[in-house]
Amino acid sequence: DAAEKGGYEFFMLKEMYEQPQAVGDTLNPRIKDGNVVIEELGMSDDEIRSIRKIYMIACGSAYHTCVSAKYVFEGLARIPVEVDLASEFRYRHPIYEPDTLAIIVSQSGETADSLAALREAKDHGIKVLGIVNVVGSSIAREADNVMYTWAGPEIAVATTKAYSTQLIAHYLLALKFAKARGEIDDTQMAEMVEDLKKLPGQIEMLLENKKRIQKFANRYLATEHVFFIGRGLDYAISLEGSLKLKEISYIHSEAYAAGELKHGTISLIEEDTLVTAVATQEELYKKTLSNIQEVKTRGAFVLAVTNVGNTEIEKTADYVIYLPKTNKYFTNSLAVVPLQLFAYYVSLGKGLDVDKPRNLAKSVTVE
Ligand code: G6P
Repeated sequence: DAAEKGGYEFFMLKEMYEQPQAVGDTLNPRIKDGNVVIEELGMSDDEIRSIRKIYMIACGSAYHTCVSAKYVFEGLARIPVEVDLASEFRYRHPIYEPDTLAIIVSQSGETADSLAALREAKDHGIKVLGIVNVVGSSIAREADNVMYTWAGPEIAVATTKAYSTQLIAHYLLALKFAKARGEIDDTQMAEMVEDLKKLPGQIEMLLENKKRIQKFANRYLATEHVFFIGRGLDYAISLEGSLKLKEISYIHSEAYAAGELKHGTISLIEEDTLVTAVATQEELYKKTLSNIQEVKTRGAFVLAVTNVGNTEIEKTADYVIYLPKTNKYFTNSLAVVPLQLFAYYVSLGKGLDVDKPRNLAKSVTVE
């Protein structure tokens, strides 16, 4: 066991450290001369252009990558995306239309609800693309086409590197669709590909910041509630940050779209309540800043995650983590790192079994 962990105390930390490699392995084979090439997609540009709607379906963290992907696909490729939890999709009788693509995302490729959703879509004549980590798994075998994430085996129940590679698969697909549909030109494609290639190094840099996050996490071991807020893609990453924290630390946490605060969550903010605010989307930055101000006024302690350069946030937030510069559509790949580290160090500090949280399974093969 100790040998398998390669010197790390828990698999989760080891797997967080494998993210630069996993992201690079998922990305690099699909980049050719500044362009995205996804042979396994099995679709010509004409076929891509004929698609009028995409369903993105998954469970857990894989579902959160779909929430992110909706913003990326709709923003970049201007194609409508419906995001569903697999357990909902399979029973909700969606209105199937021709020229729809279903994308099923799964690390294990064995999640019962995701597999059932895949079969449901296929039974209605919908073409299914799997984004899967485990080669030869059920979802990989039954999907019409499969795009593998190359995260390697993931042992910790709380996913980190598989999640990060799923985001990469979504970005690659969104860029491919955007290009085929004429929404971006060669120059924009080349620029975004350059930003993608920088991600592994940037993730590594953020991991090096772990001591600072550990120190911060250690102050919150006894806390009972944590709130995560953000807008747009920052909301999507808040969902993942919140799930990571609650699953391994047993602290109650909730993610809220920052604009929804006033419709509920704000009544729960008391003196010293921890609020994690993610603010990487420049066009929404001022809005989130005023939400930070609102929770501060009610006594919250605010941990902010924002882009390098946004130093004026220090006037409002109590503790700030800066992310290196990337394209606005790719910020989730960076913001997730401090959130993973925070969850990890809270769990570690509480003396919990980080890799095997109570009641949870790595792969949920029953309904
Ligand atoms: C479980 C795991 C999660 C995972 C989810 C979906 O709940 O603990 O980490 O996101 O299942 O699993 P899948 O293998 O389909 O990605």
